[in-house]
Amino acid sequence: MNDFIELAKCRQTCREFAARAVEHEKLVACVEAARLAPSGCNAQPWSFVVVESSAMVAKVAECVAMDGMNSYAAQAKAFVVILEEHAKLMPYIAVMLDSQYFAKGDLGAAAAYFCLEAESRGLGTCQFGIFNRPRLGELLGIPEHQPYAALIGIGYPANPEVRDKQRKPLDQLVRFV
Ligand SMILES: Cc1cc2nc3c(=O)[nH]c(=O)nc-3n(C[C@H](O)[C@H](O)[C@H](O)COP(=O)(O)O)c2cc1C
Repeated sequence: MNDFIELAKCRQTCREFAARAVEHEKLVACVEAARLAPSGCNAQPWSFVVVESSAMVAKVAECVAMDGMNSYAAQAKAFVVILEEHAKLMPYIAVMLDSQYFAKGDLGAAAAYFCLEAESRGLGTCQFGIFNRPRLGELLGIPEHQPYAALIGIGYPANPEVRDKQRKPLDQLVRFV
C-alpha cells in the first residue's frame, strides 16, 4: 500500500483476533518502524518489551482482561509494551525544559508507527489503556517507577472488514491562516 492516508484509514482497533500465529519477523519490523519515529532532540526515550511466547502472552492477557473489560485481549497472539525511558535532551534545551517534556508525544509517535507498520503487514492491533499495572510489571520485570506509554495487543484480524472512522469533522479541527 503506497498511499499513507489509505493506510491510516485501514488501521483500526482490532477487537477480534484470528487463531493464526504472528510471525516473529513481523514483530521485529513493527519495532523497527517504531524506532524510526521522530523524538524531541532525537532523545528516543523508549524501550520495548515484545511478548510472543504463548505462555507469556496468556499471562499478559490475564493482566489486561479485568472486570469484564477488554476480554478480547485473550485472543491476541502477541503484545508489546512500550516504556518511557529517560530522555537525554541537548544541553541548551535541558536547561529550559524537564527531561521528559517531549517524551509523551515521542512515545505516541512510536506507538502510532508500530501500529501502522502492523497494519501494512496485515496485522491488527489494539491499544489497551487499562490493565493491572503492578501485576504486569511483576510479570515482565518492569520497575515500579517506570511509566508505561502503551500496551498493544497484536494478531491477525478475524474480520477484515474496515469500519468507517468515527472522527470529528475536519472543519471543526483546523484553521488555515
Ligand atoms: C491510549 C489508548 C488506549 C486505548 N485503550 C483501549 C482499551 O482499553 N480497550 C479498547 O478496546 N480500545 C482501546 N483503545 C482504542 C480506542 O478506543 C480507538 O483507538 C478509538 O476508538 C478509535 O478507533 P480506531 O482505533 O478503530 O480508529 C485505546 C486507544 C488508545 C490510543
